[in-house]
Amino acid sequence: MTSVSPFGVAFCGYALFGALLLTGQTPQARSITEGVYSAAQAARGQQLYKTQCAECHGNALEGTVGSPLAGDSFLSDWSARPLINLVDKIQKTMPFNLPANLTRPQSTDLVAYILQAGKFPAGQAELSEAMLARIAFPAAKPSAAPARAGLGNTSLPPPEGNLAELMRAIAFPNSNILFNLQIKDPGAQPKKQTTPATFDYAEWGSTVYPGWLAVDQAAIAITETAPLLLTPGRRCQNGKPVPVDAADWKQFVAALADAGKLAHQASKARNHAAFIDISDKLNDACANCHKVYRDKGGTEGSGATRCQP
Ligand code: HEC
Ligand code: HEC
Repeated sequence: MTSVSPFGVAFCGYALFGALLLTGQTPQARSITEGVYSAAQAARGQQLYKTQCAECHGNALEGTVGSPLAGDSFLSDWSARPLINLVDKIQKTMPFNLPANLTRPQSTDLVAYILQAGKFPAGQAELSEAMLARIAFPAAKPSAAPARAGLGNTSLPPPEGNLAELMRAIAFPNSNILFNLQIKDPGAQPKKQTTPATFDYAEWGSTVYPGWLAVDQAAIAITETAPLLLTPGRRCQNGKPVPVDAADWKQFVAALADAGKLAHQASKARNHAAFIDISDKLNDACANCHKVYRDKGGTEGSGATRCQP
């Protein structure tokens, strides 16, 4: 069975998230320990933080839904990287649920506040755009564990399958159950069905969990596959590591989880009409990531360039 979404091509022109600047390219003239922002600027940043960030990153920047923005794991994430990367990250990807709505000066003010909250001293001058590439986080001590936000400090078992296998196991069959709603009404399915003559796991399964139950389950599977796409240590078919630390990868994964959650809500409400829009969103979530990480350099099967940004 293949995807039934009619939206595949039409929605592919979507602008992709800008790549973060490579680190280590710029001469790092100063450190954030040298009073690189002003107190007034941090106060402006704090106002924005309270209204737009605290709900996910915590009042003390300790991290809740979002990663911590202070403390050891944050500092080791940003070890030796220039501030321009952090401003870019914020401006292009935050707030997570409404990205790319902050101005450049607002994003810079937020960084000033993050520095202040991290106990880096204020100075006289404001942090300016011109300086951003030249001011860096201190290099984390080699002893510091390479902790990553979220999954890094939990002890997950190592992955069983490569990424393609995982996609075929979860994303593919379950998204097809959801895409199918564009042409079939699960409410119209008879409660009891007879087992089809030829064995077909989707058809047979639908006699056990008919109609909307199958849709509920598929929506949960799509949502729950997202953290598996962030499991450290997984490789792609071509041996390259899954780019779990890349900012755009995380965002593509989050978009997939969002589509799964929407599908689950609509499924619980038995709202068939909502699935036109949801199929579209789900299809985008698959296609946007595939365009960058799977299908670059020619056909889907071209292999070697997969999983590299
Ligand atoms: C709806 C929840 C949400 C809101 C609101 C939100 N964030 Fe985030 N943020 C996240 C999540 C989830 C991540 C981890 C995924 C990622 O890095 O993209 C994250 C990651 C980050 C990171 C990267 C941290 C690291 O160590 O890599 C920064 C910086 C950040 N957010 C800043 C902000 C700022 C500043 C705001 C307010 C303008 C904000 N966020 C609002 C959810 C949120
Ligand atoms: C975060 C990025 C991302 C998202 C989201 C994503 N994929 Fe993938 N997908 C990939 C990458 C990268 C590969 C290539 C994996 C490899 O070669 O090991 C892949 C491979 C696949 C394959 C296997 C192709 C083959 O080589 O046989 C299928 C099927 C697939 N994806 C379906 C889906 C569907 C359906 C969705 C949406 C419900 C989806 N994917 C969402 C990144 C993603």
